[in-house]
Amino acid sequence: MDALSDYSDHWDDSMSDSSQSDHSDASMGTYRSEASSRTSVDMSVRSASPARSVVSVTDSVRAQAIREEHGRGVNNYSDVYLLPADDDEVNRLNHQHILMTKIMGKYPPPILEAMRQDDHGETKAILDLGCGGGNWIMDAAHDFPEASCVAVDLVPMQILDMPPNCRSEVDDINLGLEHFYGDFNVVHMRLINTGIKDYAGLIVHISRVLRPGGLIDMLEFGYKIFDNNRQIVPPSEAPGSTWLPRWFDKIYIAVGRRGGCLDSASHMYGWVKDIPAFTDVTYRGFWTPTSPWLKGHDPETKHQNDLGRLMRDDIKEFLKSGRPLLLASGLSVAYVDELENGCRQELDEAKAPHYIVLEQVYARRR
Ligand SMILES: C[S@@+](CC[C@H](N)C(=O)[O-])C[C@H]1O[C@@H](n2cnc3c(N)ncnc32)[C@H](O)[C@@H]1O
Repeated sequence: MDALSDYSDHWDDSMSDSSQSDHSDASMGTYRSEASSRTSVDMSVRSASPARSVVSVTDSVRAQAIREEHGRGVNNYSDVYLLPADDDEVNRLNHQHILMTKIMGKYPPPILEAMRQDDHGETKAILDLGCGGGNWIMDAAHDFPEASCVAVDLVPMQILDMPPNCRSEVDDINLGLEHFYGDFNVVHMRLINTGIKDYAGLIVHISRVLRPGGLIDMLEFGYKIFDNNRQIVPPSEAPGSTWLPRWFDKIYIAVGRRGGCLDSASHMYGWVKDIPAFTDVTYRGFWTPTSPWLKGHDPETKHQNDLGRLMRDDIKEFLKSGRPLLLASGLSVAYVDELENGCRQELDEAKAPHYIVLEQVYARRR
């Protein structure tokens, strides 16, 4: 796929039912690989919703779920997902959750409608796929105390004071969601595309997991860096080129080789639109500076630079998280060190006019 032509011309801050997205089998097939996924421990951990999970979150379960690779703890079950799952990563995700909430709020507007109690008397249910540290699902469990909340990930959530209406399940989403069909009013996914082999297929599953009137809410990042004119900055090894596009490109290639689906960020709007069961499909692109590089002192510039500061800190932590993935992809330690150091210096100098785009798509189930 020509990433440049795919990204260059369709960036509006908000598009509802009007975005052009390329939904070709070729683009979906580009990153399919032979990498396989295994479920956690064994199939018995896949509980039939809405029964409580058979996995209790104990240290031993967590220890079993994590192995060490290149100095970081990574999940033991998926051959696709190779970002860490250790305490440092949970800490990074905690901070990132605050940043995401500042950028786009916690929930898209239709959640209130989707969660409104009706005459059927059914318990409303919320599902978070690839919950990571569990920040989002914990917020949802607090904000919707009558709802039953389920979080799924390759490793169990580490939270000790889990609210009674929330449970954690260990599973590989790539194995399918049939056991959840018809059970949920909201399905949320945020930044999980590095571990998803067939994102379009996952969306089809979710159309069946949702009850009528339910809400799908997805946020992804396409691992591209944009300039001030909203054009992709092509990764370049030439002397004097900026570092961050190179680093993200190496991650993009490494994830693609493992079977992850990073292009889902730009395709998911089209995929959702193609499913007749969905309506009110909405796209929002959140342009966020990668450091506080903007000039000016007006309130909007100040706000953008505040976000840029938080994003810079998040990316600096993410540089460490990407290390096992890059080293496992065959890059040398010296090269990865050079890339990381270049990125850190560039981020601290805050001169490169770089943006990343966080892409959100949400829709209602008819
Ligand atoms: C970058 S983290 C984001 C976590 C969380 N959604 C958030 O926004 O804080 C991606 C998470 O998705 C999980 N994940 C990725 N692929 C998965 C899969 N195939 N099945 C289950 N979980 C997966 C990872 O284990 C990781 O916790």
